[in-house]
Amino acid sequence: MPAIIPQPLHLSVPADATVTALAGTVLVAGPSATEQRIALQASAFLQADAGVTVPLTDAPEPGVTVIDVRLDSAAGPEGAADGYEVDTSVRPMRVAGSSAAGLFSAVQTLRQLIVAAEGEAVVEAAQVSDAPRYSWRGLTLDIARNFFPLASLERVIDVLASYKFNVLHLHLTDDQGWRIESPSRPELAKLSSDTSNSGKAGGYLTLADFRQLQDYAAERFITVVPEIDMPGHTNAATAIYGDLRPDGKATDKYEGMEVGFSQLTFDLPTTEPFIRDVLGDMAGITDGQYLHVGGDEALTLGAEEYAKFITLLEDVVADTGKQVIMWQEAASAPTRPGTLVQYWDTRADTAPFVAAAERGAQFIMSPGNHAYLDMHYTKGFPLGQDWAGLIDVRHAYEWDPATVIDGVPGSQVRGVEAAIWTETLSTDDHLFTMLLPRLTAIAEVAWTAPERKDWESYRARVAVAAAAWRRAGLAFHESAQIDW
Ligand code: ACM
Repeated sequence: MPAIIPQPLHLSVPADATVTALAGTVLVAGPSATEQRIALQASAFLQADAGVTVPLTDAPEPGVTVIDVRLDSAAGPEGAADGYEVDTSVRPMRVAGSSAAGLFSAVQTLRQLIVAAEGEAVVEAAQVSDAPRYSWRGLTLDIARNFFPLASLERVIDVLASYKFNVLHLHLTDDQGWRIESPSRPELAKLSSDTSNSGKAGGYLTLADFRQLQDYAAERFITVVPEIDMPGHTNAATAIYGDLRPDGKATDKYEGMEVGFSQLTFDLPTTEPFIRDVLGDMAGITDGQYLHVGGDEALTLGAEEYAKFITLLEDVVADTGKQVIMWQEAASAPTRPGTLVQYWDTRADTAPFVAAAERGAQFIMSPGNHAYLDMHYTKGFPLGQDWAGLIDVRHAYEWDPATVIDGVPGSQVRGVEAAIWTETLSTDDHLFTMLLPRLTAIAEVAWTAPERKDWESYRARVAVAAAAWRRAGLAFHESAQIDW
């Protein structure tokens, strides 16, 4: 069987199937701009992956093998959103999506059907009909503890796209630095981004960087969700604005690893204008529908002041026209029905989540003991931390988002995000060593129907996937659980 990650809903190989040399094939696309654009992307992917030029043409020469790229509302399992089909056993080969996102997914599957055989790139014969389990398949990436510039983020997006993720959630602000230009508060990025956990020079995304990042992501059907973390995790702001502190004195900059010591103060006249400025700025530069406003680990705040913040943050985001996402702690306040709650800390009492679900909240599942990819793989692993436990590849793979929180119905789970926090990670090699292979396990958790998941099958497929990482120069952890 071809090694596709995430495992498709339906995959079969005809009995008489043979492989087809990729060299000499051509792409033909439906007439719409979307079909033409995705076919050109397919051509670029095949060139980069296999070093083979597969041109897009209107008039294929007689006898050449055609790969037909097309929108088709009937593609994929009946009634499924963003379904797709790939059939490389027929002529022309069929690459079809019921939506643009579905068609892009079809192209990702086609890429994984191309393997090296006797030094030549060939297309394996397969029939695939597929659609995602969850519409939200993301990665939370912390670029506040250590800064990762646009070029690194584009490499991450390339990997996300190839495994059919569609959300990149950037944790942009924390005690150690403010990593996004905020036009109404230029001091934040200018004066509070030179610090980081590693002691290296920090940095921040300019408006132009953020524009390019969103365009790069959108071309790959990925939405960027920015997070401005409040009312805790705010030392980068209070280190610049003393008037956000009751004593009027700016805090010291911070390069340590503690959490939970910083806060905004609800009753100061400067606080709400600050929140409105920075969230208004983010709303103004964000293409997607969502703003994440944190809400986690505000450990120095009393419950009453914390709840006031949550209500204010929900109001301010609603005023910007965006939809709000908050970490799970917000569920202890009377969140609104539409609020998206991101679950992370499995040590917490579940009652507030059940209550939030009863109020209509939906959940993004990032349980720390399965989805926090900065956790060590094994005891004493040189990168990452272990406070949520050890997460070997199998542990990242074997869990079901629908049953993570007792009492929260699976129907209120919008999807899944892996998360990677960068206190101990300051280079691309660090980052990818922790992401790969586990990110592909989370891809399958988010995409694949539970009855199609199987550890032994995944284990064999992930070994095949490593060829693409080696080719792209991406570091990965050669876990002893996989026969590489
Ligand atoms: C978190 O890990 N504090 C969301």
